[in-house]
Amino acid sequence: MKAIECLKYGEVENLVLSNVKKPIAKANEVLIKIHATSVTTSDVLIRRMNEPFIPKLILQLIFGFGRPRNPVLGMVTAGVVERKGKDVTLFEIGDEVFAYGSISPTKRRFGSYAEYICLPEDWNLALKPVNLSFEEAAAIPYGGLLASHLLKKTSINKDDKILIYGASGSIGTMAIQLAKHKGAHVTSVCSSRNFELVTSLGSDKVIDYTIENAEKQLETYKYVIDAVGNSKSSILKEKSKKALTSNGKYISIDHGTPLTPKEAFLNLKSLAEQEKLRPVIDSIYPLEKMAEAHKYVEMGHKRGNVVITI
Ligand SMILES: NC(=O)c1ccc[n+]([C@@H]2O[C@H](COP(=O)([O-])OP(=O)(O)OC[C@H]3O[C@@H](n4cnc5c(N)ncnc54)[C@H](OP(=O)(O)O)[C@@H]3O)[C@@H](O)[C@H]2O)c1
Repeated sequence: MKAIECLKYGEVENLVLSNVKKPIAKANEVLIKIHATSVTTSDVLIRRMNEPFIPKLILQLIFGFGRPRNPVLGMVTAGVVERKGKDVTLFEIGDEVFAYGSISPTKRRFGSYAEYICLPEDWNLALKPVNLSFEEAAAIPYGGLLASHLLKKTSINKDDKILIYGASGSIGTMAIQLAKHKGAHVTSVCSSRNFELVTSLGSDKVIDYTIENAEKQLETYKYVIDAVGNSKSSILKEKSKKALTSNGKYISIDHGTPLTPKEAFLNLKSLAEQEKLRPVIDSIYPLEKMAEAHKYVEMGHKRGNVVITI
């Protein structure tokens, strides 16, 4: 089958189109013919592997030294069940499904930059919402699960003011919608070119982090949610950490290891089916243009998600 392999860590040139062995489903697994996947910022971080010494050492212990142990990256899948193992009871051949390659910090599977993948039936795997295309379904799991992880750390009451920093990325666009679903008053931080997008997702107020004195627009918030983490900052972000009510809390995607439980995955599916969660797609590339897609995601300004069709 066709797949994109990461031959060694580093530049996008190390992502090459290869012919690899089609996987075979074990008794508890389904074989999925992949129609769409997505390039996430985590994929880019792993492919580059240019973190400081200690984080890099930890990452390579997990993912492999010099090159990824599984050279086919990618953790988001939307496709059709082509075969199933003898013990599988939850899925049938022909089912349209979507999935995320991790269900806990230690249970992780790459391999969705390819025509086929095998996943256990008890994974973050479910029938695709019928109202979504494969491409749209591939834009849900990563941002949706990480935003759910952030929101789980809050107890939002109706009209609580929250600020979402990095609101226009894959995590931010999902965090806005999940927070609005809980009744929050949401202030979104992004550059002004994305104001229309974040407002359409439900933001009540918007602040452009790139303008001078943007911090003067800050109010006090019950939660300040940093959806982009340590690699992206601004004066506004530093000031927002103190723009909290007396019982307020600053929550960052880079605090601890994100949990991605099945309960959260199924909740995203249900919200999407009720049209309470809208996947945001920045752009779509064919599998063969993976290097280009990685280059674009690496620039750090995508709107929502970058999807790959296979
Ligand atoms: N710690 C962990 O275990 C873990 C796990 C997964 C992910 N993460 C982190 O989560 C982040 C992934 O988020 P994502 O995929 O949602 O990111 P993303 O989609 O790449 O975010 C892009 C958005 O960030 C905004 N942005 C860029 N620079 C900014 C700045 N200085 N201040 C505010 N906003 C800025 C951009 O808005 P404009 O274009 O409007 O500027 C763009 O819309 C990654 O950085 C990753 O490190 C951490």
